[in-house]
Amino acid sequence: MEAAQRVADLRREIERHDHAYYVLDSPTVPDAEYDRLFRELQAIEAEHPHLATPDSPTQRVGGKPLAGFSQVRHVVPMLSIRTETDTEPSGAMAFDARVRREMGLAETDPPVEYAAELKFDGLAINLRYESGVLVQAATRGDGETGEDVTQNIRTVRSIPLRLQGEVPEVLEVRGEAFMSRMDFERYNEKQRAQGRAALVNPRNGAAGSIRQLDPAMAAERPLSFYAYGLGETRGWDLPATHGGVLDALAAFGLPVCEHRAVVQGAAGLIAFHARMRELRDALPFDIDGVVYKVNALSLQQRLGFVTREPRWAVAHKYPAEEMLTTVEAIEVQVGRTGAITPVARLAPVFVGGVTVTNATLHNEIEARRKDVRIGDTVIVRRAGDVIPEVVSVVLERRPMRDLLGDEPLHPAFELPKSCPVCGSAIERPEDEAIARCTGGLICPAQRKQALLHFAGRRAMDIEGLGDKLVEQLVDNAIVKTPADLYKLGLLAMVNLERMAEKSAANILDAIAKSKQTTLARFIFALGIRNVGEATAKDLARHFGTLDALMAADVDALQQVPDVGPVVAASVARFFAEPHNVEVIEQLRAGGVSWAEGEPSAVVNSPIAGKTFVLTGSLPTLTRDEAKDMIEALGGKVAGSVSKKTDYVVAGAEAGSKLDKAQALGITILDESQFRELISS
Ligand code: IVH
Repeated sequence: MEAAQRVADLRREIERHDHAYYVLDSPTVPDAEYDRLFRELQAIEAEHPHLATPDSPTQRVGGKPLAGFSQVRHVVPMLSIRTETDTEPSGAMAFDARVRREMGLAETDPPVEYAAELKFDGLAINLRYESGVLVQAATRGDGETGEDVTQNIRTVRSIPLRLQGEVPEVLEVRGEAFMSRMDFERYNEKQRAQGRAALVNPRNGAAGSIRQLDPAMAAERPLSFYAYGLGETRGWDLPATHGGVLDALAAFGLPVCEHRAVVQGAAGLIAFHARMRELRDALPFDIDGVVYKVNALSLQQRLGFVTREPRWAVAHKYPAEEMLTTVEAIEVQVGRTGAITPVARLAPVFVGGVTVTNATLHNEIEARRKDVRIGDTVIVRRAGDVIPEVVSVVLERRPMRDLLGDEPLHPAFELPKSCPVCGSAIERPEDEAIARCTGGLICPAQRKQALLHFAGRRAMDIEGLGDKLVEQLVDNAIVKTPADLYKLGLLAMVNLERMAEKSAANILDAIAKSKQTTLARFIFALGIRNVGEATAKDLARHFGTLDALMAADVDALQQVPDVGPVVAASVARFFAEPHNVEVIEQLRAGGVSWAEGEPSAVVNSPIAGKTFVLTGSLPTLTRDEAKDMIEALGGKVAGSVSKKTDYVVAGAEAGSKLDKAQALGITILDESQFRELISS
């Protein structure tokens, strides 16, 4: 009996931590404590197998591989949604005009209220909860019948296996399963390092994960989920509006995206479309547009459907993140670790909001697998601020030597034998995917790339330290290691070619500003092989301090989630190298610092787990700086104000967010009050 009670308590506590971590994105306990609870639960369940019920958090990856998926008939059909391809404000106006016409509204009638949300780019899933327990998850299929993917969906950590609060008898939740950009990049990094095929885009990654017959394989390709609607419900008084439905789903513990709003009329839709477009690159996942829904469920019912599509909803697109263009040349670049990366030079193409002229082919194996050649028409992808990449070749458009079309005009890509920068031999170890320049110490490209990486936006974020400047600093032997950056004076800078005093001062300023950073950024900036941004964050979170990380041996490193033997070995090797340690000591001596502490100390900070919204311009802090300070102390920054917001930090020209915060009675801080709070 005692065991049953302990199991129930442990589950409740683990569910609470899972919700905080995966849904609210604000961890409540250090990893080690979570692991301890989890292991205790596993141990009791192993001893008392009858207690290991399917809704236990230990049972997420329990299932055996299936022979095939069985079919699920949807009680309420899963509809699709009309797409507005006009990406301009006129697209929103057309929808509003249509709704008003259908409802017989005159121009003088008040604006229609809409719920606006993001259009996630993944797969529609129906989750069925009976008495609050997840009993089935199904794909959309043809809308009438989908496939039972319960086993795979159970591996999605943000999807509760059990709902919180007063739960309806039956609740079907509809939403999108998708792969975040970070999970996509991380999976692909791993695949590429092993010379294996990478996922084409997060959407395909999500589809592949859902279609896995072996749930253990699905768990390898982690997915996220956001709820956006309902299927069948029984024993529940529906809220009056769509916004109310989403609030209720969030209260049940389901993940609902914070970027949503209830707005009035076409003007409100247009403003939301514009605001989300600004935010698009910074989101941790791809969106291909926004979705507008008439907010009142009674009006939705009145508007009804035309062939499988509701009249009360529309998807308003953004410019595509994948576009076609042609390859003008293929060159190679030398990276900071000597890695040779083939790069396609492209006919300029507008994709994901910017004009792209280069796209990475990642490595020799991938370039060969994709078989990209000069003259080819290719699909280019640019999403977020990640490097644009060639996704695939449109083979039927390949230029051929003759009309029969069996001999391509251009040969297959081959890696050069020597480094284009220093002339040293290029080598590729047999069991590795990446070829490298062997001129480690003499190759200027490696030093330059190391500095550019260090200064990069996602690393130390030194604005203005770009290609040209790094080139001059390295070629003139002014800077050899990142630590030298913090020793630069105005004199050395002004003496550089074409450097005005003003811009020299600006760069020195940016360098000084970069000194205050986060541990994760610092680790990433070091450019340790196999340590990307995601791994750097994991390491920072796990170890809490740089000294703890530097002292960790390969075994200790492998305790970090997602760190395997390869990554652990490169981290250990990096810190075992005295030159590297010397540079790190010089950087610290030069004033580079971050908020340090055990992960638990972060949890105890005055703002741990608190949600901030930043609005307007602050007198001395940039938005990114404020964000970093908040995150370093375990707080979270959201894009919009809601009941969940704890603080709004407002500066000059704060707009609607400030109004909303006032309306909701949320604490509003100016910069000095904010500084006071975080130092309390
Ligand atoms: S609502 C009756 N909301 O887009 C309306 N769909 O055809 C049903 N999608 O298959 C869909 N984000 O997978 C809705 N916020 C959102 C969405 C969304 C993405 C997907 C969904 C659906 C497709 C539209």
